[in-house]
Amino acid sequence: MVLDDDFQLAQKRVDELITLLDRYSHEYYVLDRPTIEDSEYDKLYQELLKLEETYPALVQQDSPTQRVGGTLLQGFEKVEHDLPMLSLDNAFDLEGLRAFDLRLRQLVGDNIEYECELKIDGLAVSLKYEEGRLVQAVTRGDGRIGENVTGNVKTIKSVPLKLKEAVTIEVRGEIYMPKASFVALNEDREEQGEANFANPRNAAAGTLRNLDPKVTASRNLSVFLYSMVQYGELEIDSQSEALSKMTELGLKTNPDRAVFQSIDEVWTYVEKYQEKRTTLPYEIDGIVIKVNQFEEQEQAGYTVKAPRWAIAYKFPAEESKTKLLAIEWSVGRTGVVTPTAIMNPVQLAGTTVQRASLHNVDLIKERDIRINDLVFVRKAGDIIPEVVRVDFDSRPESSIPFEIPTECPACQSELAHLEDEVALRCLNPKCPAQAKERLIHFVSRNAMNIDGLGEKIIIQLFEKQLVEDVSNLYELTLEQLLTLDKIAEKSAENLLKAIEASKSNSMERLLFGLGIKHVGAKAARLLSEKYETMDQLKQAPKEDIQAIDGIGEIIAESVVAFFDLEAARDLLEKLATHGVNLTYTGAKKRETMDESSVFYDKTVVITGKLEHFKRNDLKERLTLLGANVTGSISKKTDILIAGADAGSKLSKAKELDVPVWDEESLMKEIGQ
Ligand code: IVH
Repeated sequence: MVLDDDFQLAQKRVDELITLLDRYSHEYYVLDRPTIEDSEYDKLYQELLKLEETYPALVQQDSPTQRVGGTLLQGFEKVEHDLPMLSLDNAFDLEGLRAFDLRLRQLVGDNIEYECELKIDGLAVSLKYEEGRLVQAVTRGDGRIGENVTGNVKTIKSVPLKLKEAVTIEVRGEIYMPKASFVALNEDREEQGEANFANPRNAAAGTLRNLDPKVTASRNLSVFLYSMVQYGELEIDSQSEALSKMTELGLKTNPDRAVFQSIDEVWTYVEKYQEKRTTLPYEIDGIVIKVNQFEEQEQAGYTVKAPRWAIAYKFPAEESKTKLLAIEWSVGRTGVVTPTAIMNPVQLAGTTVQRASLHNVDLIKERDIRINDLVFVRKAGDIIPEVVRVDFDSRPESSIPFEIPTECPACQSELAHLEDEVALRCLNPKCPAQAKERLIHFVSRNAMNIDGLGEKIIIQLFEKQLVEDVSNLYELTLEQLLTLDKIAEKSAENLLKAIEASKSNSMERLLFGLGIKHVGAKAARLLSEKYETMDQLKQAPKEDIQAIDGIGEIIAESVVAFFDLEAARDLLEKLATHGVNLTYTGAKKRETMDESSVFYDKTVVITGKLEHFKRNDLKERLTLLGANVTGSISKKTDILIAGADAGSKLSKAKELDVPVWDEESLMKEIGQ
């Protein structure tokens, strides 16, 4: 009986938690208006997870814990769409839109209402909800048959697993990757020696169609839903009504939409967003104009390929033409050799551009890019300039194909073009350019965070053969540093101090700094939290590593391969001999913390200029003492630490009666 009672209580709480978490998630991911701290969300999520672990029978299919699919997929099952996913006819100027308007007037009469929406540059999906529950997500494919990507789509937080009403409907929309996430992802990939994604659309497609749902979950995809194709019981008469209803159901729709009575008003909207497009956080490639009333849509009808009641106005691509002067090759820390185009300076979408990415050697061949060509440049994701194509008409007959380098520009060893890679690679483990890049990574902020060790000093350390691998950093002497160009005694001393201080970094910084393929800062933290010492990680079997939430097979394999290398084991031994810490001392799990600290289990915000602490260090120390350091003041904040010139956070804290500490009181408390 007791068990029954417990079970019933648990069941009630699980329902409550799912409702709460769904609400917070909707506020955060769909409305972009969070109402609680992340930590609060995490707490509730953990509570739900625990209950579900204790009572597996209570795991609901649409519980937020069920978003991350754990198993690797073999492939995607093909699914036929109930209703084909059509494409749209295009217009490229006002004339094109006027012609569209005229055709429609002939088909449906003069009282047409146009509904305008942004044309999101991503990939189309169709989502089926049965009685309010997400049951299937399928890509567009060829329009008739697409791929079942339900597991991956479930990991996208702005896609609700459960609607606010138990309706049976099918909705369609565009999955996209925000510009900022695209840039961050490519930076990450470059660091890992992987080929860049050319634009956010390709990145979104690659992510959605990844066979490891964990990869999809780890990248930041989002969605805008733009049409309802099966309504169930709902009575809806127009596109604008459909979108409002979808929003009401909890689906994410784009708010920048409007209804107009004439094509001239439509044109004003088009021009407005043509201006605004670079300021939006996601890419759009045009405007979609739809007849608003469904009855009139039916009257207009369809061609085989596209509806007659809608058209896509495509923005002109912002491209500039300039001359390619040279191709520069640089070697990354994993040996990937990447080409950059050096061009005559040219204006492009608001900035002067003279370097542009060529991505990889295959792309140069494919686009037949040659020195002295006139080339078109464009900004991928509106941000990173790239060469898109050659103006072949202006190419002189004497032009000769570009010769792909066969030797590493840094160490002259032969370059390899591995079968499964798009990039050229220098395989020489002793290549100085790679070693230099590895060192730059090792000292960088998220790795060992050694202040004052800039690229110029690193280059000199290599040239003078004072450093060959990262362990040599810990052997440097003041005398050696003083032989470098432009380094004063004071800065040399500071540098030595910074190097010394880095020895006590927690294991995750070192693990990330080692630059193991696929091991980013987050994976390094997860691995360190789990294994706590380098030694234990070294002995961990692949299956064990892979079982960590957030770590996939690819990372696990890479970690095992790294520790199999004799050179890697030697390096770690050398680091240990120099006194570099190889254990995890980071934000320990709460149970192991000192509960008597005033910061234990407190939510703390830091603001203003600090004189005695570096902000990141302070954050780490407080976290070690059990604090949860967050970025914004709310009623839940327990302490605000305010340095000089604290602004709005300080006034808000006072308003909410949150205790405010200055640096003095802080130093007294943590004994510095
Ligand atoms: S409506 C019958 N609305 O553009 C097709 N499409 O070129 C109805 N797209 O395949 C599509 N944003 O992937 C529509 N607000 C929007 C859109 C949009 C992006 C994409 C969609 C479609 C392609 C057509």
